[in-house]
Formats: sequence, C-alpha cells, structure tokens
Amino acid sequence: MKSKILVTGGAGYIGSHTVVSLLESGHEVIIFDNLINSKKSVLKNIAAVSGREAEFIEGDVLDAPLLMEVFEKNNISAVLHFAGLKAVGDSMINPLSYYENNVSGTITLLKAMEANNVFTLVFSSSATVYGDAKVMPISELSPLSKPTNPYGNSKLVVEDILRDIQQADERWKVAILRYFNPIGAHKSGQLGEHPNGRPNNLLPLLSKVAIGHLPEILVYGSDHATPDGTGIRDYIHVSDLANGHLRALDKITRTGGIEEWNLGTGIGYSVLEVIAAFEEVTKQKIPYRFSSKRPGDVAECWSDPSKASRDLDWTANLNLKDMVRDTWRWQTNCPTGYPDL
Ligand code: NAD
Ligand code: WQD
Repeated sequence: MKSKILVTGGAGYIGSHTVVSLLESGHEVIIFDNLINSKKSVLKNIAAVSGREAEFIEGDVLDAPLLMEVFEKNNISAVLHFAGLKAVGDSMINPLSYYENNVSGTITLLKAMEANNVFTLVFSSSATVYGDAKVMPISELSPLSKPTNPYGNSKLVVEDILRDIQQADERWKVAILRYFNPIGAHKSGQLGEHPNGRPNNLLPLLSKVAIGHLPEILVYGSDHATPDGTGIRDYIHVSDLANGHLRALDKITRTGGIEEWNLGTGIGYSVLEVIAAFEEVTKQKIPYRFSSKRPGDVAECWSDPSKASRDLDWTANLNLKDMVRDTWRWQTNCPTGYPDL
C-alpha cells in the first residue's frame, strides 16, 4: 500500500495550498477536516489546479475513534497538522473552544499517531509565540513569551507538548513552523482565503473595501513606534509557505528530532505600505481612516528566516506586489468564496 500524508485542516486556507504542493510533487494525500471554517467544494479546485485528487474524510481531530480508524485503514507516513481555530478576537470570548480544538485536538491526534506508529509531524505554529518581541528581526533564538490571547497561547502550549513528547521518545520527528503573516492566493485565482463572517485580518478586509463590500479600512494606530506610525508585519505568500512545508517534511523525515523554523520573508511592511501596494495593483483609491490601536497589537513583527534558508534551502520567492496581485485575482474571480455543495 503506497504511503500517504494525512493533512488535518487541509480544506482550509493554508492547508489547501499545501495539499496542492504535495499533490504536485507526487504525494498521496488524505485531507481530514470538519469543515468548520472551509467548504467541501475546495476539493474540486484543488483537483483543477493540481491535476490530481486528494482523498477527503470529514472528521474532527477531537474524534479519537475516527482518527484511529483512519490510521488503521491507511499507510500514513506523516501528518501535516493545520486543523484548529485561528480567530484571535474570538479566542478571547470563547477560550475553551480554542484550548479544546487546538490543544485537546492535537493531543487526540498525537495519541492516535503514537498508537499507530506514525511519528512524523509538521505543526502549524505562529510568530505569535514570540509575543511582543523587543528585537527585530525575530530569529528562532528570540525568547518565547506568553501571547496576549488564548489562540496564541494554544500554539505555545502545543509547541511545549511537542518538545516534551519528542524528548520522552526519540522516534518523534517534529517540524514546528512559525508562520509570520500569510496572505495571497494561488496564482490560478481558484484557491484563496474566505473567512467565515466578517474578516479581521488586513488583507481580507482590504479586498472587501476594494470590491465595494465595505466602505473603508480602519488603520489601527498612527502612533506606533515605526517610521510611518502604522504597524509593521512580515507578509508571506501562502504558496511560498506551502512549499516550506514540503521542505520541512523532507528535512525532518531525514534527520529526525524536533526543529523550529520561522517562515517569513524577512521584510516588514507597514499598513500604509500595504494599502499603497493594494492601490497600485487594483488601480483604485482605498478609503482609509486612522483609529485607535487594536488591543494586543505589537508595533512590529518580522522574521529572520535564515535558519529555514540554511536548513531547508527554502526562501520566499514572491514579493508584496505578487501577494496583493494574487489576493486581488482570487477576490475578483471568486468574490463569494467557495460555493456550498
Ligand atoms: P483555516 O481556518 O482556513 O484552516 C483550518 C482548517 O481546519 C479549516 O478547514 C477548518 O475547517 C479545520 N478545522 C478546524 N477545527 C478542526 C477540528 N477540530 N477538526 C478538524 N478540522 C478542523 O486556517 P488557516 O489560515 O489555513 O490556518 C491553518 C493553521 O495555521 C491553523 O492551525 C492556524 O492556527 C495556523 N496559522 C495561521 C495563520 C494565519 O494567519 N492564517 C498564522 C499562523 C498560524
Ligand atoms: C496586520 C496589521 C494591524 C486590520 C494575526 C494574528 C497572528 C497570526 C496572523 C495566526 C496590524 C493592521 C489590521 C485592520 C489594520 N495568525 N490592521 N486595520 O494581527 O499581525 O496577525 O494574523 O497565528 O497570530 O494575530 O494580522 O492582518 O490582523 O494585522 O490597521 O482592519 O494590520 O493593526 O498592524 P496580525 P492582521
């Protein structure tokens, strides 16, 4: 039986792009997703852009018996674990859901993996584990600090669990990938981000303003300690991010152990610079207004990605203009996201 990669959360934004990269490089893929923040119709688009199909199992990572069945029935060589909840603001209102899905869900998955002798894992972590870092750029040696919200903390807790299990049992091969700010969409315009409800992140909001579904963008703070006073982030194209997963999977499979890698471009852009890039690509004025800082926002957050470059021979190839152009192509191509089936 040919081995397969299990991709939890593979119907979601980053997972779907990574599934395309996996299929394109010849892997057999099973997507395991409860569709709480995605649509089954993404499968058609994944097949259209990659020319191959992923298997799909609708299921929850909290469902231990179902996970056991999936591992028992398939020859799974590794797991890419994207499944989880990710809305920072919502996590402050519903912390238990975040700890349950992100922490208990991961524990349930790890137990099913262990019981079936599958020990290779790539985990979606986040730059949020560095908290309000004092020194830029942020390297993997920068101190971790408790994030200001339950979502971020759930990532830090899972990272600790992974370090603990690997220390207890050397069979575990774990890649912890700390994403900076993933944006953009597949170059075909057929895959992209379509958050449920009102978006909270800058790029989905800018798209909504540009297409006329929202009147303006609020710029959170004009008095951050940055050159133009607005927040600086390291935006990374989701397709570059997807490729980083393949490199990390390959590396950790060969070397074993546990490693953390930052996945970012190493370049920070301010909110005003992103708005300017959006205006250039869409050839229209984006109405914006300054408002107060968003609670919990740091002034700047950008990566030193040299460890990934060194160890994985990976660097981000696409620039801010590529990211904005692909976001806009997706927005105009599929303004209402994926259809219901
Ligand atoms: P997403 O919401 O688009 O994808 C997550 C997928 O997981 C969705 O398809 C959802 O239906 C599924 N899911 C959620 N809970 C589940 C559960 N209990 N069982 C099975 N499936 C479940 O999010 P994304 O942006 O693709 O993020 C993927 C991962 O990367 C998440 O773990 C997220 O925390 C992490 N991450 C995201 C960002 C970002 O800005 N997008 C940044 C850093 C880290
Ligand atoms: C980017 C910049 C805002 C909206 C979040 C999570 C983080 C990670 C990635 C998962 C900031 C400014 C935003 C708006 C604005 N996710 N902004 N007006 O906050 O850097 O990161 O997503 O792990 O954990 O916190 O991303 O896109 O929300 O904000 O001015 O309407 O845009 O203040 O400077 P953020 P974002």
